[in-house]
Amino acid sequence: MKNLALNSTLLLNLISIMKTQNKTILFIMTSAIILFIGSTAYSPSERATTWTNQELALIQSLRLPRQWEISDPSNTYLHNPEAAKLGELLFLDTQLSRSKQIACSSCHQPDYYFTLAPDSEITLDKQVPSLLGGASFNWYMLDGSADSLWAQALKPLENHLEHGGTRTQYVQYVLNRYPQLYQAIFGYFPTQLTSSDLPAQASPISQSAGEQQSWQKLGTRTQTEINRVYANIGKSLAAYQATLWPQEARFDRYIDQISAPSGAAEKAILNANEIAGLKLFISEKAQCLRCHNGPLLTNGDFHVTVVPEPHSAAQQGRLAGIESALADPFNCLSLYSDSEPTQCKELLYSKRGVGELEGATKVPSLRNIAATAPYMHAGQFSTLNEVLNYYNRAATPFGRHNDLNALKLLPYQIKQLEAFLLALTENSTDE
Ligand code: HEC
Ligand code: HEC
Repeated sequence: MKNLALNSTLLLNLISIMKTQNKTILFIMTSAIILFIGSTAYSPSERATTWTNQELALIQSLRLPRQWEISDPSNTYLHNPEAAKLGELLFLDTQLSRSKQIACSSCHQPDYYFTLAPDSEITLDKQVPSLLGGASFNWYMLDGSADSLWAQALKPLENHLEHGGTRTQYVQYVLNRYPQLYQAIFGYFPTQLTSSDLPAQASPISQSAGEQQSWQKLGTRTQTEINRVYANIGKSLAAYQATLWPQEARFDRYIDQISAPSGAAEKAILNANEIAGLKLFISEKAQCLRCHNGPLLTNGDFHVTVVPEPHSAAQQGRLAGIESALADPFNCLSLYSDSEPTQCKELLYSKRGVGELEGATKVPSLRNIAATAPYMHAGQFSTLNEVLNYYNRAATPFGRHNDLNALKLLPYQIKQLEAFLLALTENSTDE
């Protein structure tokens, strides 16, 4: 602060000298000031002067909280440690698939930020999103077709391209394999559900007509009992995922540094390029905060980016996604939800049926982005540089709505933004 006062007095003096001189001297003096400011702006002892109070507040809003406070009224077991334990066992268990070869962790690999490892043998037409911090979202999937983590979990389990089994298979397996643990969490279950009289595979949404018929033959009561246990499998998987959070990155440590009352005298944790990238990231010019805000650097909402070769689910996007969420028999308003209907505000009052939702996809978190290439929902871009160049052009095809505006940044600014994005990786060591 002292130095700042000194700088301002110096500046005033210089300006008053300039007034009395001719144009050439004025030019020289102005350059001197620019050099002078340039050399001090990012000097370690003056870091606090790099940011205005408003910028500082914006940056602080991006820091990871020390304690996450999340709730889901539709899942009373979200913070139940036993449910999280069962959920973890199930997350890793390949028995929870028709082929007995696929677990959630086959695609959401714990060692790769819960995304697919680059050398995985599994090939998919969609990118596998990280699950870190996912418990804080209101919506899941590219189009938001699930309104809770537990409702989401039930989708891949019966999807023929993923786990591909049926709810009847899973319910029997879990109740036979973990009867005590299940009962300790959820209480009573009808023993009839573990009986071998039940068909091995039956589901109302199976690909096989035979398995659909087997489901119809079960009768409403048994169907409801199976659905209840199936929903509890989802709630356990959600409780486990609610323990998965991104760890602090160099960026978070930098925020602490610039927030310290002294302005921190030691060397800046981010380098000049990364700081310039952060400045752009929060600026009106680059507009990233419009969609990538909060500690996970996403607003959790849906936007149209018109990225090339959209996946079929992305063509309709949120326009269809909200309708699927409303029709989901395991949504917040369903029989299997633990909440009152009035607590399902997101589901009840979300925007529907408007053109701007067509092709809108969920904004992903940018935490650990350096480690989770390729990018966009179908991996359309292989590097961050390509993503940023896309944002820079953001051409809108004729007749389409696009939430992006071409940024028209200069190549060095793209590099600065990229440098900043690389500082969002957890456990990244200081410069
Ligand atoms: C075959 C690979 C695969 C398997 C197995 C798989 N997933 Fe996924 N998961 C994906 C893909 C791909 C997406 C993105 C789909 C989309 O958004 O349309 C996804 C999306 C998700 C999401 C939404 C994330 C978000 O932010 O919207 C969650 C949560 C999730 N999966 C959890 C699970 C759980 C729990 C299991 C096990 C029951 C599981 N997944 C099994 C590939 C897989
Ligand atoms: C209008 C909203 C919006 C704005 C503004 C925006 N983004 Fe995005 N961003 C998205 C959406 C939506 C996606 C996902 C698109 C997809 O998957 O097809 C995305 C994806 C990304 C990805 C790839 C993430 C991944 O895991 O694949 C990066 C990196 C990214 N944005 C960075 C930025 C930066 C940097 C800025 C500012 C220059 C920015 N975004 C501005 C909405 C936005």
